[in-house]
Amino acid sequence: MDTHDRDALIQHILTSEAEAQARLHNGMNPQEIRQSLGPFTSKDAGGPERVKDAIDAYLRSAVRTGLPEFMRTFWGASQPASVIGSLLADIRNTTMHSFAVSPAATIIEREMIRGIAERIGFNANGIFTTGGSNSNELGLVCARENLIPGSHRTGIQGHRLCVLTSDEAHYSVDSAMNRMGIGMDSIIRVPTNNGVMQPQDLIKAIHHVKEEGMEPLAIVSTAGSTVRGAFEDLNAIADIAEKHGIWHHVDAAWGGSVLFSERYRSMLNGIERADSVTFDAHKMLGASMVCSMFLLRDGRVLENAMAHTEKGDYLFDDPVSSQSLGRISPQCGRRADALKLWLTWLDIGSDGFGKIVDSCMDVAEHLAKLVEKKDEVELISHQFTNVCIRFTPKENETTEEGDMRVRKARDKLEQDGTAMVIDARLDGRLVIRFAAAQPSVDKEAVTRFLENLIEVDQV
Ligand SMILES: Cc1ncc(COP(=O)(O)O)c(C=O)c1O
Repeated sequence: MDTHDRDALIQHILTSEAEAQARLHNGMNPQEIRQSLGPFTSKDAGGPERVKDAIDAYLRSAVRTGLPEFMRTFWGASQPASVIGSLLADIRNTTMHSFAVSPAATIIEREMIRGIAERIGFNANGIFTTGGSNSNELGLVCARENLIPGSHRTGIQGHRLCVLTSDEAHYSVDSAMNRMGIGMDSIIRVPTNNGVMQPQDLIKAIHHVKEEGMEPLAIVSTAGSTVRGAFEDLNAIADIAEKHGIWHHVDAAWGGSVLFSERYRSMLNGIERADSVTFDAHKMLGASMVCSMFLLRDGRVLENAMAHTEKGDYLFDDPVSSQSLGRISPQCGRRADALKLWLTWLDIGSDGFGKIVDSCMDVAEHLAKLVEKKDEVELISHQFTNVCIRFTPKENETTEEGDMRVRKARDKLEQDGTAMVIDARLDGRLVIRFAAAQPSVDKEAVTRFLENLIEVDQV
């Protein structure tokens, strides 16, 4: 295949996408999908024709995340300018480790970090990562280096570390503790009220772990929890973290987009006092997967935490090596993800991001109000753009039977291609977790979704 064939195939993808039948998925089972996609490898050169067949097979069975019925994740179809940013990154196949090979992308990445940091209200440093999970892990790695300077070399021998976080925090905190060798059992779950850590419980937990001979490594707050959409009181937690000298990491992977909304910015008040922040542009802002950043107030901590990169000095031997982002990244080769946010920001502007947030808030509120009006369903929770729904219990219905109704309805909607949404556990019960996250999921879409949800429960 030459570049002419490549360009023709790119055009083919765009045309097929525009003409495709508007269904969420084609209803094939895993076996059928596998059969339709193959062959997967080839000894002989199949050339553009075989690639075209493979593309067509992929497009037939890949879920159409941009449709209004797609409500399963915190993102859908990406912004048009982000798709171009992604292509731009591929065309030059830039890797971010050294300024010499990625001068433009390095400057763009730094400017994107600066742009988000300004919105947060601190003069931050940071790096693009492989996702919110990775950003949360970097927060804890930096907290470790801050608490035990030199631990990038010595490890944490002799220290009994623990992390304090909400019982509704994202599982990437568990993942980080697992992979850092501290262990998930060293996560202290602070009780929540409506998904929000209570300051007095947090203080109690800090005293308790210290009495037990443990050292609090960090407090991880969540701004936009995964199931409930809850935002911690970041100022209250910052007060406690500052008083006790504990690193405060804010996981704003889901709720961080609120930085762009004049109407709702105050939900993040206090974020500017955090030591580090996770921010995902690939969620509500519509940058394509993945486009996540880790930001921190004191960039020297990240430099120290990533000191192992000094062993890769052959990578950073260019004259402006001090500019090389590879020195502060856990990755070596790294994609130029910042280009997606850059072009999207230029295209729709901060105002456009703000409008997305405001309209997602409106859509969620619309759905929550509809749920309240219907006898067949109960509104379990509505915070941010997350709306958690359960069916009104029938007489003598057990919790398990109620859970079954939720799971069955979710599965049926998904099988039929009527809607894709998740169910999740909240306060011990299974709920339908809706989250407005992309502009195509509008008021009309959620009205239809609720009607369908009620209908499938009744058959
Ligand atoms: C609160 C929260 N933190 C972190 C993450 C992980 O983000 P990512 O999927 O980018 O790794 C998620 C994902 O949904 C999340 O909801």
